[in-house]
Amino acid sequence: MEYILGIDIGTSAAKTVLFDIKGNTIASAIGRYPLYQPHMGWAEQDPEDWWQATVNTIQQVLDKTNINSHQIKGIGLTGQMHGMVLLDKDLNVLRPAIIWCDQRTQKECEEITNIVGRDQLIDITANPALTNFTASKVMWVKNNQPHIYDRIYKILLPKDYIRLKLTGECATDVSDASGTQFLDVPNRRWSDKILDRLEIPGEWMPEVYESPVVSGKVSHTAAQITGLKMDTPVVGGAGDQAAGAVGNGVVKSGIISSTIGTSGVIFAHMDKVSIDPKGRVHTFCHAIPGAWHVMGVTQSAGLSLQWMRDNFGGMEQELSKFIHVDPYDLMTKEAEQAEPGSQGLIYLPYLMGERTPHLDPYARGVFFGLTAKHNRSHMIRSVMEGVVYSLKDCLEIIKEMDVPIQDIRASGGGSRSDLWRQMQADVFNTPITTISSSEGPALGAALLAGVGAGIYSNVNEACTATIEKVDRSYPIEHNTLVYNKYYIIYRQLYKALEEIFQDVFYIQKDLNNIEV
Ligand code: XUL
Repeated sequence: MEYILGIDIGTSAAKTVLFDIKGNTIASAIGRYPLYQPHMGWAEQDPEDWWQATVNTIQQVLDKTNINSHQIKGIGLTGQMHGMVLLDKDLNVLRPAIIWCDQRTQKECEEITNIVGRDQLIDITANPALTNFTASKVMWVKNNQPHIYDRIYKILLPKDYIRLKLTGECATDVSDASGTQFLDVPNRRWSDKILDRLEIPGEWMPEVYESPVVSGKVSHTAAQITGLKMDTPVVGGAGDQAAGAVGNGVVKSGIISSTIGTSGVIFAHMDKVSIDPKGRVHTFCHAIPGAWHVMGVTQSAGLSLQWMRDNFGGMEQELSKFIHVDPYDLMTKEAEQAEPGSQGLIYLPYLMGERTPHLDPYARGVFFGLTAKHNRSHMIRSVMEGVVYSLKDCLEIIKEMDVPIQDIRASGGGSRSDLWRQMQADVFNTPITTISSSEGPALGAALLAGVGAGIYSNVNEACTATIEKVDRSYPIEHNTLVYNKYYIIYRQLYKALEEIFQDVFYIQKDLNNIEV
Protein backbone atom coordinates (compact mmCIF):
# COMPACT_ATOMS: atom_id res chain seq x y z
CA MET A 1 0.00 0.00 0.00
CA GLU A 2 1.08 3.58 -0.71
CA TYR A 3 0.30 6.56 1.54
CA ILE A 4 0.61 10.34 1.47
CA LEU A 5 1.12 12.67 4.41
CA GLY A 6 -0.31 16.18 4.93
CA ILE A 7 1.06 18.52 7.61
CA ASP A 8 -0.96 21.64 8.46
CA ILE A 9 0.62 24.38 10.62
CA GLY A 10 -2.57 26.08 11.82
CA THR A 11 -2.96 29.07 14.12
CA SER A 12 -3.87 27.05 17.19
CA ALA A 13 -2.32 23.66 16.37
CA ALA A 14 -0.29 21.55 13.97
CA LYS A 15 -2.17 18.67 12.43
CA THR A 16 -0.54 15.72 10.72
CA VAL A 17 -2.77 13.37 8.71
CA LEU A 18 -1.89 10.16 6.90
CA PHE A 19 -4.10 9.29 3.90
CA ASP A 20 -4.31 6.34 1.56
CA ILE A 21 -4.32 7.21 -2.13
CA LYS A 22 -8.14 7.13 -2.24
CA GLY A 23 -8.09 10.07 0.21
CA ASN A 24 -9.25 8.04 3.24
CA THR A 25 -7.84 9.23 6.56
CA ILE A 26 -5.70 6.47 8.09
CA ALA A 27 -4.47 8.33 11.19
CA SER A 28 -4.20 11.87 12.42
CA ALA A 29 -2.75 13.77 15.37
CA ILE A 30 -3.00 17.32 16.65
CA GLY A 31 -0.40 19.25 18.66
CA ARG A 32 -1.49 22.58 20.13
CA TYR A 33 0.67 25.63 20.77
CA PRO A 34 0.17 29.10 22.25
CA LEU A 35 -0.53 32.41 20.54
CA TYR A 36 1.17 35.36 22.22
CA GLN A 37 -0.56 38.77 22.26
CA PRO A 38 1.95 41.07 23.98
CA HIS A 39 -0.17 44.14 23.09
CA MET A 40 -3.70 44.69 21.86
CA GLY A 41 -3.84 43.71 18.18
CA TRP A 42 -0.46 41.94 18.19
CA ALA A 43 -0.16 38.21 17.44
CA GLU A 44 3.05 36.21 17.61
CA GLN A 45 4.11 32.57 17.75
CA ASP A 46 7.34 30.69 18.34
CA PRO A 47 8.40 28.73 15.23
CA GLU A 48 10.06 26.21 17.54
CA ASP A 49 6.58 25.41 18.96
CA TRP A 50 5.40 24.63 15.41
CA TRP A 51 8.35 22.31 14.88
CA GLN A 52 7.93 20.49 18.23
CA ALA A 53 4.21 19.99 17.50
CA THR A 54 5.05 18.73 14.00
CA VAL A 55 7.59 16.22 15.33
CA ASN A 56 5.16 14.99 17.99
CA THR A 57 2.26 14.62 15.58
CA ILE A 58 4.33 12.80 12.94
CA GLN A 59 5.57 10.40 15.63
CA GLN A 60 2.01 9.85 16.91
CA VAL A 61 0.67 9.17 13.42
CA LEU A 62 3.42 6.65 12.72
CA ASP A 63 2.86 5.02 16.14
CA LYS A 64 -0.89 4.73 15.60
CA THR A 65 -0.49 2.79 12.35
CA ASN A 66 1.47 -0.27 11.47
CA ILE A 67 2.80 1.13 8.25
CA ASN A 68 6.45 1.28 7.42
CA SER A 69 7.55 4.86 6.75
CA HIS A 70 8.93 3.86 3.34
CA GLN A 71 5.28 3.43 2.27
CA ILE A 72 4.81 7.21 2.59
CA LYS A 73 5.44 8.37 -0.96
CA GLY A 74 5.28 12.10 -0.42
CA ILE A 75 4.73 14.87 2.11
CA GLY A 76 2.74 18.05 1.54
CA LEU A 77 2.98 21.11 3.80
CA THR A 78 0.32 23.70 4.38
CA GLY A 79 -0.51 26.23 7.08
CA GLN A 80 -1.44 29.69 8.19
CA MET A 81 -0.37 32.19 5.56
CA HIS A 82 1.42 35.57 5.75
CA GLY A 83 3.39 34.93 8.99
CA MET A 84 6.94 36.30 9.03
CA VAL A 85 9.76 34.02 10.18
CA LEU A 86 13.14 35.79 10.16
CA LEU A 87 16.35 33.76 10.05
CA ASP A 88 19.98 34.74 10.55
CA LYS A 89 22.84 33.41 8.44
CA ASP A 90 23.04 30.23 10.55
CA LEU A 91 19.31 29.74 9.86
CA ASN A 92 18.40 30.46 13.47
CA VAL A 93 15.12 32.26 14.23
CA LEU A 94 15.76 35.95 14.99
CA ARG A 95 12.51 36.86 16.78
CA PRO A 96 9.03 35.37 17.35
CA ALA A 97 7.03 35.09 14.13
CA ILE A 98 4.56 37.94 13.59
CA ILE A 99 1.54 36.07 12.29
CA TRP A 100 -1.33 36.75 9.88
CA CYS A 101 -3.85 38.25 12.32
CA ASP A 102 -1.40 40.76 13.82
CA GLN A 103 -2.68 44.31 13.22
CA ARG A 104 0.25 46.53 14.28
CA THR A 105 1.41 47.57 10.81
CA GLN A 106 -1.09 50.13 9.49
CA LYS A 107 1.65 52.81 9.35
CA GLU A 108 3.90 50.47 7.34
CA CYS A 109 1.02 49.74 4.93
CA GLU A 110 0.72 53.47 4.26
CA GLU A 111 4.51 53.61 3.79
CA ILE A 112 4.46 50.72 1.28
CA THR A 113 1.57 52.32 -0.63
CA ASN A 114 3.42 55.65 -0.78
CA ILE A 115 6.69 54.07 -1.92
CA VAL A 116 5.27 51.68 -4.54
CA GLY A 117 2.04 53.49 -5.49
CA ARG A 118 -1.38 51.90 -4.93
CA ASP A 119 -2.07 51.12 -8.60
CA GLN A 120 1.31 49.52 -9.21
CA LEU A 121 0.99 47.51 -6.00
CA ILE A 122 -2.35 46.13 -7.17
CA ASP A 123 -1.05 45.49 -10.74
CA ILE A 124 1.96 43.48 -9.50
CA THR A 125 0.94 41.88 -6.22
CA ALA A 126 -2.79 41.85 -7.12
CA ASN A 127 -3.61 43.33 -3.70
CA PRO A 128 -3.38 46.60 -1.74
CA ALA A 129 -0.98 46.81 1.23
CA LEU A 130 -2.58 45.04 4.18
CA THR A 131 -1.56 44.65 7.79
CA ASN A 132 -1.96 40.89 7.43
CA PHE A 133 0.59 40.49 4.66
CA THR A 134 4.26 39.72 5.28
CA ALA A 135 5.70 42.84 3.61
CA SER A 136 4.28 45.26 6.19
CA LYS A 137 5.59 43.03 8.98
CA VAL A 138 9.11 43.12 7.52
CA MET A 139 8.88 46.92 7.22
CA TRP A 140 7.74 47.12 10.85
CA VAL A 141 10.89 45.26 11.93
CA LYS A 142 12.94 47.63 9.76
CA ASN A 143 11.31 50.65 11.45
CA ASN A 144 11.21 49.37 15.01
CA GLN A 145 13.84 46.68 15.50
CA PRO A 146 16.77 47.66 13.23
CA HIS A 147 19.17 45.50 15.28
CA ILE A 148 17.14 42.47 14.13
CA TYR A 149 16.52 43.73 10.60
CA ASP A 150 20.29 44.08 10.07
CA ARG A 151 20.80 40.37 10.79
CA ILE A 152 18.15 39.00 8.37
CA TYR A 153 19.43 36.33 5.99
CA LYS A 154 16.14 34.67 4.90
CA ILE A 155 12.42 35.32 5.31
CA LEU A 156 10.18 32.26 5.49
CA LEU A 157 6.47 31.60 5.88
CA PRO A 158 5.23 29.35 8.72
CA LYS A 159 4.92 26.06 6.84
CA ASP A 160 8.25 26.78 5.11
CA TYR A 161 10.03 26.84 8.44
CA ILE A 162 8.86 23.24 8.84
CA ARG A 163 10.21 22.48 5.34
CA LEU A 164 13.57 23.88 6.43
CA LYS A 165 13.59 21.63 9.49
CA LEU A 166 12.50 18.59 7.44
CA THR A 167 14.67 19.04 4.36
CA GLY A 168 17.27 21.76 5.03
CA GLU A 169 15.83 23.79 2.08
CA CYS A 170 14.66 27.41 2.21
CA ALA A 171 11.71 27.29 -0.19
CA THR A 172 8.06 28.20 -0.57
CA ASP A 173 5.24 27.74 -3.08
CA VAL A 174 3.43 30.23 -5.30
CA SER A 175 0.12 30.23 -3.40
CA ASP A 176 1.66 31.01 -0.01
CA ALA A 177 4.21 33.41 -1.57
CA SER A 178 1.24 35.36 -3.01
CA GLY A 179 0.34 36.39 0.54
CA THR A 180 3.72 38.02 1.19
CA GLN A 181 3.09 41.00 -1.13
CA PHE A 182 6.57 40.40 -2.60
CA LEU A 183 5.30 38.13 -5.43
CA ASP A 184 4.44 39.19 -8.96
CA VAL A 185 1.15 37.28 -8.82
CA PRO A 186 0.25 37.34 -12.55
CA ASN A 187 3.76 36.05 -13.45
CA ARG A 188 4.20 33.71 -10.45
CA ARG A 189 7.73 34.87 -9.44
CA TRP A 190 9.27 37.27 -6.90
CA SER A 191 8.86 40.87 -8.01
CA ASP A 192 12.22 42.62 -8.38
CA LYS A 193 10.34 45.89 -8.71
CA ILE A 194 8.58 45.60 -5.34
CA LEU A 195 11.70 44.30 -3.59
CA ASP A 196 13.88 47.08 -5.07
CA ARG A 197 11.41 49.82 -4.16
CA LEU A 198 11.19 48.57 -0.57
CA GLU A 199 14.99 48.08 -0.49
CA ILE A 200 14.63 44.45 0.49
CA PRO A 201 17.41 42.21 -0.88
CA GLY A 202 16.09 39.56 -3.31
CA GLU A 203 18.41 36.95 -1.68
CA TRP A 204 16.23 37.09 1.44
CA MET A 205 13.44 35.37 -0.50
CA PRO A 206 13.37 31.57 -0.57
CA GLU A 207 13.17 29.53 -3.80
CA VAL A 208 9.56 29.55 -5.05
CA TYR A 209 7.96 26.37 -6.48
CA GLU A 210 4.63 25.43 -8.01
CA SER A 211 2.63 23.61 -5.33
CA PRO A 212 2.84 20.00 -6.60
CA VAL A 213 6.55 20.18 -7.47
CA VAL A 214 9.14 18.46 -5.24
CA SER A 215 11.08 21.10 -3.29
CA GLY A 216 13.37 18.87 -1.22
CA LYS A 217 13.71 15.54 0.56
CA VAL A 218 13.59 14.52 4.21
CA SER A 219 17.12 14.86 5.62
CA HIS A 220 19.01 12.27 7.65
CA THR A 221 18.62 14.36 10.82
CA ALA A 222 14.88 14.96 10.33
CA ALA A 223 14.36 11.26 9.57
CA GLN A 224 16.04 10.34 12.85
CA ILE A 225 13.97 12.82 14.85
CA THR A 226 10.58 12.09 13.27
CA GLY A 227 10.70 8.45 12.19
CA LEU A 228 10.04 9.43 8.56
CA LYS A 229 12.16 7.76 5.89
CA MET A 230 15.16 9.75 4.70
CA ASP A 231 14.71 11.09 1.13
CA THR A 232 10.90 11.11 1.23
CA PRO A 233 9.93 13.92 -1.20
CA VAL A 234 8.40 17.12 0.18
CA VAL A 235 6.43 19.14 -2.40
CA GLY A 236 5.93 22.92 -2.53
CA GLY A 237 2.57 22.57 -0.77
CA ALA A 238 0.23 25.53 -0.38
CA GLY A 239 -1.15 28.19 1.94
CA ASP A 240 -4.02 26.88 4.06
CA GLN A 241 -6.71 28.36 1.84
CA ALA A 242 -5.37 27.04 -1.48
CA ALA A 243 -4.62 23.63 0.08
CA GLY A 244 -8.08 23.59 1.66
CA ALA A 245 -9.55 24.33 -1.75
CA VAL A 246 -7.72 21.35 -3.26
CA GLY A 247 -8.96 19.21 -0.35
CA ASN A 248 -12.50 20.36 -1.17
CA GLY A 249 -12.16 19.86 -4.91
CA VAL A 250 -12.29 23.60 -5.65
CA VAL A 251 -10.10 23.09 -8.69
CA LYS A 252 -12.25 24.32 -11.56
CA SER A 253 -14.31 27.30 -12.41
CA GLY A 254 -17.83 27.41 -10.89
CA ILE A 255 -16.86 25.63 -7.64
CA ILE A 256 -16.57 27.88 -4.56
CA SER A 257 -15.76 27.02 -0.96
CA SER A 258 -17.10 28.70 2.13
CA THR A 259 -14.77 28.00 5.03
CA ILE A 260 -15.30 28.70 8.70
CA GLY A 261 -11.98 28.08 10.44
CA THR A 262 -10.30 30.60 12.78
CA SER A 263 -10.80 33.02 9.90
CA GLY A 264 -13.63 32.68 7.37
CA VAL A 265 -13.03 32.52 3.64
CA ILE A 266 -15.03 32.47 0.42
CA PHE A 267 -12.69 31.02 -2.20
CA ALA A 268 -13.16 30.69 -5.97
CA HIS A 269 -10.95 29.08 -8.62
CA MET A 270 -9.98 31.21 -11.65
CA ASP A 271 -8.42 30.12 -14.96
CA LYS A 272 -7.18 33.70 -15.55
CA VAL A 273 -6.01 36.45 -13.19
CA SER A 274 -8.82 38.77 -12.24
CA ILE A 275 -8.32 41.53 -9.69
CA ASP A 276 -10.85 43.58 -7.70
CA PRO A 277 -9.63 47.13 -8.44
CA LYS A 278 -10.71 48.16 -4.93
CA GLY A 279 -8.57 45.36 -3.47
CA ARG A 280 -11.37 44.15 -1.16
CA VAL A 281 -10.74 40.48 -2.00
CA HIS A 282 -7.37 38.83 -2.54
CA THR A 283 -6.22 37.45 -5.88
CA PHE A 284 -3.50 34.83 -5.33
CA CYS A 285 -1.87 32.00 -7.32
CA HIS A 286 -3.78 28.74 -6.87
CA ALA A 287 -2.03 25.50 -5.95
CA ILE A 288 -2.70 24.34 -9.52
CA PRO A 289 0.01 25.38 -11.98
CA GLY A 290 -1.40 28.02 -14.35
CA ALA A 291 -4.47 28.84 -12.21
CA TRP A 292 -5.30 31.61 -9.73
CA HIS A 293 -7.94 32.11 -7.11
CA VAL A 294 -9.86 34.95 -5.57
CA MET A 295 -10.85 34.95 -1.94
CA GLY A 296 -12.61 37.17 0.53
CA VAL A 297 -11.44 36.84 4.12
CA THR A 298 -13.26 37.65 7.33
CA GLN A 299 -10.73 37.77 10.15
CA SER A 300 -12.65 36.30 13.10
CA ALA A 301 -15.06 33.58 12.02
CA GLY A 302 -14.50 30.47 14.16
CA LEU A 303 -12.47 32.80 16.37
CA SER A 304 -15.69 34.61 17.31
CA LEU A 305 -17.35 31.45 18.58
CA GLN A 306 -14.09 30.41 20.25
CA TRP A 307 -14.00 33.78 22.02
CA MET A 308 -17.60 33.24 23.12
CA ARG A 309 -16.77 29.73 24.39
CA ASP A 310 -13.62 30.81 26.22
CA ASN A 311 -15.20 33.83 27.91
CA PHE A 312 -18.82 32.89 28.42
CA GLY A 313 -18.98 29.15 27.77
CA GLY A 314 -17.75 27.97 31.20
CA MET A 315 -21.01 26.11 31.72
CA GLU A 316 -20.73 24.21 28.43
CA GLN A 317 -17.07 23.48 29.06
CA GLU A 318 -17.84 22.00 32.51
CA LEU A 319 -20.80 20.00 31.22
CA SER A 320 -18.79 18.62 28.33
CA LYS A 321 -16.42 16.93 30.80
CA PHE A 322 -19.31 14.86 32.17
CA ILE A 323 -21.29 14.06 29.06
CA HIS A 324 -18.34 13.98 26.63
CA VAL A 325 -19.93 16.28 24.09
CA ASP A 326 -17.87 19.04 22.50
CA PRO A 327 -18.69 22.44 24.14
CA TYR A 328 -19.26 23.85 20.63
CA ASP A 329 -21.99 21.26 20.02
CA LEU A 330 -23.64 22.27 23.29
CA MET A 331 -23.42 25.93 22.32
CA THR A 332 -24.93 25.37 18.87
CA LYS A 333 -27.76 23.36 20.47
CA GLU A 334 -28.48 26.45 22.58
CA ALA A 335 -28.30 28.68 19.50
CA GLU A 336 -31.00 26.51 17.88
CA GLN A 337 -33.39 27.65 20.62
CA ALA A 338 -33.32 31.21 19.22
CA GLU A 339 -35.12 32.00 15.99
CA PRO A 340 -33.38 33.10 12.77
CA GLY A 341 -32.40 36.74 13.09
CA SER A 342 -31.90 36.39 16.88
CA GLN A 343 -34.78 38.80 17.47
CA GLY A 344 -32.85 41.72 16.06
CA LEU A 345 -29.59 41.07 17.91
CA ILE A 346 -26.82 41.60 15.36
CA TYR A 347 -23.14 40.77 15.86
CA LEU A 348 -20.28 42.33 13.87
CA PRO A 349 -17.39 39.82 14.00
CA TYR A 350 -14.53 42.32 13.86
CA LEU A 351 -12.59 41.03 16.88
CA MET A 352 -9.27 41.33 15.03
CA GLY A 353 -10.15 44.21 12.69
CA GLU A 354 -11.56 43.19 9.32
CA ARG A 355 -10.28 42.42 5.85
CA THR A 356 -13.05 41.87 3.26
CA PRO A 357 -14.81 44.14 2.56
CA HIS A 358 -13.61 46.94 4.86
CA LEU A 359 -9.80 46.50 4.97
CA ASP A 360 -9.96 48.11 8.40
CA PRO A 361 -7.57 47.12 11.20
CA TYR A 362 -9.43 49.44 13.62
CA ALA A 363 -12.83 47.75 13.26
CA ARG A 364 -14.11 46.08 16.45
CA GLY A 365 -16.62 43.44 17.43
CA VAL A 366 -20.13 44.71 18.21
CA PHE A 367 -23.35 43.31 19.66
CA PHE A 368 -26.11 45.59 18.45
CA GLY A 369 -29.74 45.57 19.51
CA LEU A 370 -29.61 43.90 22.94
CA THR A 371 -32.86 44.01 24.91
CA ALA A 372 -33.88 42.54 28.24
CA LYS A 373 -35.63 39.79 26.30
CA HIS A 374 -32.40 38.43 24.81
CA ASN A 375 -30.61 35.51 26.45
CA ARG A 376 -27.55 33.31 25.91
CA SER A 377 -29.11 31.42 23.03
CA HIS A 378 -29.69 34.67 21.11
CA MET A 379 -26.13 35.80 21.79
CA ILE A 380 -24.59 32.56 20.56
CA ARG A 381 -26.87 32.48 17.52
CA SER A 382 -26.16 36.11 16.66
CA VAL A 383 -22.40 35.39 16.74
CA MET A 384 -22.91 32.57 14.26
CA GLU A 385 -25.18 34.72 12.08
CA GLY A 386 -22.75 37.67 12.12
CA VAL A 387 -19.98 35.40 10.84
CA VAL A 388 -22.21 34.26 7.96
CA TYR A 389 -23.17 37.86 7.10
CA SER A 390 -19.46 38.65 6.87
CA LEU A 391 -19.02 35.68 4.50
CA LYS A 392 -21.93 37.02 2.43
CA ASP A 393 -20.01 40.31 2.12
CA CYS A 394 -17.16 38.29 0.56
CA LEU A 395 -19.49 36.36 -1.76
CA GLU A 396 -21.17 39.53 -3.03
CA ILE A 397 -17.84 41.00 -4.19
CA ILE A 398 -16.84 37.78 -5.92
CA LYS A 399 -20.22 37.84 -7.72
CA GLU A 400 -19.53 41.47 -8.76
CA MET A 401 -16.30 40.23 -10.41
CA ASP A 402 -18.41 37.91 -12.64
CA VAL A 403 -16.76 34.81 -11.21
CA PRO A 404 -19.15 31.91 -12.03
CA ILE A 405 -20.79 30.30 -8.98
CA GLN A 406 -22.37 26.86 -9.47
CA ASP A 407 -21.53 24.88 -6.37
CA ILE A 408 -20.69 26.23 -2.88
CA ARG A 409 -18.94 23.74 -0.60
CA ALA A 410 -18.89 24.13 3.19
CA SER A 411 -15.53 23.57 4.76
CA GLY A 412 -13.51 24.12 7.95
CA GLY A 413 -14.44 23.31 11.56
CA GLY A 414 -17.67 25.33 11.14
CA SER A 415 -18.91 22.94 8.44
CA ARG A 416 -19.34 20.25 11.12
CA SER A 417 -22.27 22.23 12.53
CA ASP A 418 -25.63 21.53 10.83
CA LEU A 419 -26.86 24.88 12.08
CA TRP A 420 -23.95 26.85 10.62
CA ARG A 421 -24.31 25.03 7.26
CA GLN A 422 -28.04 25.74 7.16
CA MET A 423 -27.39 29.41 8.02
CA GLN A 424 -25.01 29.64 5.07
CA ALA A 425 -27.63 28.14 2.74
CA ASP A 426 -30.25 30.59 4.10
CA VAL A 427 -28.10 33.74 4.16
CA PHE A 428 -26.52 33.07 0.72
CA ASN A 429 -29.89 31.78 -0.59
CA THR A 430 -28.16 28.91 -2.35
CA PRO A 431 -27.65 25.18 -1.65
CA ILE A 432 -24.50 24.29 0.30
CA THR A 433 -22.68 21.05 -0.49
CA THR A 434 -20.69 18.98 1.98
CA ILE A 435 -18.00 16.62 0.75
CA SER A 436 -16.81 13.23 1.99
CA SER A 437 -13.60 14.31 3.74
CA SER A 438 -13.43 17.05 6.33
CA GLU A 439 -9.64 17.21 6.40
CA GLY A 440 -9.48 20.23 4.03
CA PRO A 441 -5.95 21.69 4.01
CA ALA A 442 -4.17 18.52 5.22
CA LEU A 443 -5.88 16.46 2.48
CA GLY A 444 -5.12 19.13 -0.12
CA ALA A 445 -1.44 19.19 0.89
CA ALA A 446 -1.27 15.39 0.79
CA LEU A 447 -2.88 15.31 -2.68
CA LEU A 448 -0.28 17.80 -3.92
CA ALA A 449 2.36 15.42 -2.54
CA GLY A 450 0.63 12.57 -4.41
CA VAL A 451 0.99 14.53 -7.66
CA GLY A 452 4.66 15.28 -6.90
CA ALA A 453 5.27 11.59 -6.18
CA GLY A 454 3.66 10.57 -9.49
CA ILE A 455 0.62 8.82 -7.91
CA TYR A 456 -1.78 11.16 -9.74
CA SER A 457 -0.92 12.88 -13.00
CA ASN A 458 -2.26 16.30 -11.93
CA VAL A 459 -4.21 18.08 -9.17
CA ASN A 460 -7.61 17.72 -10.90
CA GLU A 461 -7.08 13.99 -11.31
CA ALA A 462 -6.08 13.71 -7.64
CA CYS A 463 -9.36 15.41 -6.62
CA THR A 464 -11.48 13.23 -8.92
CA ALA A 465 -9.88 10.12 -7.42
CA THR A 466 -10.56 11.13 -3.82
CA ILE A 467 -13.37 13.64 -3.32
CA GLU A 468 -17.11 12.88 -3.28
CA LYS A 469 -20.11 15.12 -2.57
CA VAL A 470 -22.15 13.65 0.25
CA ASP A 471 -24.83 16.09 1.37
CA ARG A 472 -26.65 19.32 0.52
CA SER A 473 -28.40 21.89 2.72
CA TYR A 474 -31.10 23.88 0.89
CA PRO A 475 -32.23 27.42 1.73
CA ILE A 476 -35.43 27.75 3.76
CA GLU A 477 -37.44 30.58 2.19
CA HIS A 478 -38.71 32.13 5.41
CA ASN A 479 -35.22 32.22 6.94
CA THR A 480 -33.76 33.81 3.81
CA LEU A 481 -36.38 36.57 3.98
CA VAL A 482 -35.52 37.31 7.62
CA TYR A 483 -31.76 37.26 7.02
CA ASN A 484 -32.05 39.52 3.95
CA LYS A 485 -33.67 42.19 6.12
CA TYR A 486 -31.09 41.97 8.90
CA TYR A 487 -28.17 41.81 6.46
CA ILE A 488 -29.10 45.34 5.34
CA ILE A 489 -28.86 46.55 8.96
CA TYR A 490 -25.60 44.62 9.42
CA ARG A 491 -24.13 46.55 6.45
CA GLN A 492 -25.33 49.89 7.81
CA LEU A 493 -23.84 49.27 11.24
CA TYR A 494 -20.23 49.22 10.02
CA LYS A 495 -20.75 52.44 8.07
CA ALA A 496 -22.23 54.11 11.14
CA LEU A 497 -19.37 52.99 13.39
CA GLU A 498 -16.36 53.26 11.09
CA GLU A 499 -15.04 56.54 12.48
CA ILE A 500 -15.91 55.68 16.06
CA PHE A 501 -13.74 52.53 15.82
CA GLN A 502 -10.75 54.77 15.03
CA ASP A 503 -11.56 57.12 17.90
CA VAL A 504 -11.52 54.18 20.30
CA PHE A 505 -8.19 52.99 18.90
CA TYR A 506 -6.56 56.38 19.50
CA ILE A 507 -7.99 56.74 23.01
CA GLN A 508 -6.59 53.36 23.86
CA LYS A 509 -3.26 54.06 22.22
CA ASP A 510 -2.88 57.20 24.35
CA LEU A 511 -3.92 55.40 27.51
CA ASN A 512 -1.61 52.45 26.95
CA ASN A 513 1.20 54.51 25.49
CA ILE A 514 2.09 51.52 23.29
CA GLU A 515 5.79 50.76 23.26
CA VAL A 516 7.78 48.30 21.18
C1 XUL B 1 -5.59 33.86 4.45
C2 XUL B 1 -5.47 33.99 5.91
C3 XUL B 1 -5.86 32.88 6.76
C4 XUL B 1 -4.66 32.44 7.52
C5 XUL B 1 -5.00 31.62 8.75
O1 XUL B 1 -5.30 35.05 3.77
O2 XUL B 1 -5.05 34.98 6.43
O3 XUL B 1 -6.35 31.84 6.03
O4 XUL B 1 -3.85 31.76 6.64
O5 XUL B 1 -5.88 30.65 8.56
